[in-house]
Amino acid sequence: MFNELILKRESCRNYNGEPVNTDLLLKCVDAARLSPSACNSQPWKYYIINGGENAEKIRECIQPNGANKFVQNCPAFAVVTERPATLKSFVIETVKNSQKWAENDIGLSVAHYCLQAADLGLGTCIIGMVEEEKVREYFGIEDKIRLVIATGYSADEKPRNKVRKALEDAGIKMASAEVSMIPQTYVTLTDEADITNIGRILDLLDDDDDVQEVYHNWDE
Ligand SMILES: Cc1cc2nc3c(=O)[nH]c(=O)nc-3n(C[C@H](O)[C@H](O)[C@H](O)COP(=O)(O)O)c2cc1C
Repeated sequence: MFNELILKRESCRNYNGEPVNTDLLLKCVDAARLSPSACNSQPWKYYIINGGENAEKIRECIQPNGANKFVQNCPAFAVVTERPATLKSFVIETVKNSQKWAENDIGLSVAHYCLQAADLGLGTCIIGMVEEEKVREYFGIEDKIRLVIATGYSADEKPRNKVRKALEDAGIKMASAEVSMIPQTYVTLTDEADITNIGRILDLLDDDDDVQEVYHNWDE
């Protein structure tokens, strides 16, 4: 059922390392290929990387600043690039920008890929944190790199509950939602200098514009 598939598809960040048959990856690309696009322009190209040295290279490109460490155990990847879109002439005359809908088109096709993968029992994670220049250089690609899709078998037994659904099931209507961290570790500070320093660190973090939230159980 399509509704079940939608719930099954989630961002997989825990792969069991099992290799993926290339035929399955090609089925995912085929689903992406059948996705709708403005004027049927299909402004995308999928590069499939399945294991080996190229997988090592792409993993390096999608972990900027230590992000996406989970890809170490993921065997396969689709690199999705943006191609020039050929729109119908009256459309291009009107909108004056042939790439106007290319990003939407690519997003839709990536959704097709991920849903097909889920249907085949594969986990995926769409990766936007990509070092584009490095990908272009390593793989000799000239087009704009839009996304990478990590693809492999999940090590998790079942999909996570979608947060909205879990709340709705409990009869709780959601007005807004945010993730909160609840500190679990307690350390008693006795040294005056330690107490002052920890207080200062928390103040500095609170004042730092680059820090969005500071979670602690500091109590004097
Ligand atoms: C355009 C795009 C870029 C994303 N980039 C990353 C990424 O770099 N790393 C990551 O772990 N997840 C990434 N995600 C996954 C989202 O975090 C995820 O889809 C969202 O939290 C919803 O969770 P779900 O996919 O499990 O339903 C990206 C998703 C999209 C659509």
